[in-house]
Parts: sequence; C-alpha cells; structure tokens
Amino acid sequence: MAVPEERFPVLGRRTDQAFFADSSDRPLTMRGVTEADLPELLRVDREVFPDDPYPYFVLRQHLDVHGDRILVLDDGECLHGYVLFVTTSDGYVCWVLSLAVSADQRGRGLGKRLMLEVLRQLRRERVREVRLTVEPTNAAAIMLYRSLGFAAEGGVFRDYLGPGEDRLIMVLGLGSGMGPGPGPGPGRG
Ligand SMILES: CC(C)(COP(=O)(O)OP(=O)(O)OC[C@H]1O[C@@H](n2cnc3c(N)ncnc32)[C@H](O)[C@@H]1OP(=O)(O)O)[C@@H](O)C(=O)NCCC(=O)NCCS
Repeated sequence: MAVPEERFPVLGRRTDQAFFADSSDRPLTMRGVTEADLPELLRVDREVFPDDPYPYFVLRQHLDVHGDRILVLDDGECLHGYVLFVTTSDGYVCWVLSLAVSADQRGRGLGKRLMLEVLRQLRRERVREVRLTVEPTNAAAIMLYRSLGFAAEGGVFRDYLGPGEDRLIMVLGLGSGMGPGPGPGPGRG
C-alpha cells in the first residue's frame, strides 16, 4: 500500500531549503536520514553524548525500524545534529528520544529548528501529545523545550533511566489550536 508522503517523509528527503551557513560557510540542510549517514550519525551522537552514546547496533536498528523519524542537519560533508522521535503504536503520543546539536553549532537556533520540524510533522499526523525526558540539570535543553510550550509533568523521576539517571518528563499537548510557537507558552533526554 502506498504511504502518503506527507505522513511519512521519504528517507533522505529534504524538509527545507538550505537555510544556514555552518562555521565553514557551507549551507546546512535539514533532511531525513539515510543509511549512508550512519557513520556520521554515530560520530555526532558520540560527540554530543560522550557518557552514554547509542551503540552502533541501536542506531542501526532505529534506522531500520523508524528511519523516517530521524532528521539530520547536513552541510554536505558532515552532520551537525539530529533528532529522533517515535510515535506510539496507537498514534496518540510521540516521544522525542534524542536531540543533538554539535557543540560548535549551538546557540544558533538549530535545536529549535529541529524541534519545530518535528512538531510540524506531528501536528500534520494529528498526534495528540509529545513527551520527552531531560536531565534536571540540563538548563539549555529545558529552556529550549519550555520555549516551545513543553512543561514538566510532576517532579524529578529518580533513576528513571537507570541508577543515578534522574529525569524530568516534559510534555506538550498538540490539541486543536495549540501550536509550537517561538514565544512562551504552555530519551535519553
Ligand atoms: C539542547 C541543545 C539541542 C540546544 O540546541 P541549540 O541549537 O544550541 O539551541 P537553540 O540555539 O535552537 O536555542 C533555542 C532555545 O533554547 C534555549 N537555549 C539554548 N541554549 C541555551 C543555553 N546554553 N542556556 C539557556 N538557554 C538555552 C533558549 O531558550 C534558546 O532560545 P533563544 O535563543 O531564543 O534564547 C544543544 O545544547 C545540545 O545538543 N545539547 C547537548 C545534548 C542535549 O542536551 N540534548 C537534549 C537532551 S534532552
């Protein structure tokens, strides 16, 4: 059965025109991941999450099972970030499992652009709620999510991702009329 393209973007398809020059002045593009991106995806993940990077086989299997749910930032030579988001089988809830921007590219709006594209796709799919986990001390990520309307649900969940791995759970409702706006509003993480 043919899958509507607007529901599941084709792997590797650009979601945007080149929009940003990286530090080498190469235009950055946000697009769906491809199998050829695996080594770069692994490199970026290890750079951004040195303490608990995804093992190769986990990224490999994420790509196999829901590669249409991984967006990457590409300058034509290397990747500078990615986001991985997965919707539950009932289609109601999406979890953002990982969001990463290379250290030398932070503070330029790239994390927000990745998240806005995720929210745009999820709204089109009529997903009701977006959830994610974040370290309680990760101020940059928490501010980013808050700026998109996410709010913490409950307090800190002790050992949520294993011993010593406390997490906040942040939630954004995507009900009618609510939208990811740049202003204030209501995975590893
Ligand atoms: C969190 C992360 C993805 C943010 O990416 P980024 O591209 O630097 O973020 P942006 O430039 O898009 O910033 C968007 C908003 O986030 C907030 N923000 C980003 N960096 C911040 C910082 N260092 N301190 C406070 N707020 C910050 C701000 O609200 C900012 O909006 P503003 O620029 O209008 O003030 C990036 O820091 C990162 O990869 N960190 C390591 C991995 C990680 O923590 N991932 C999230 C796991 S839950």
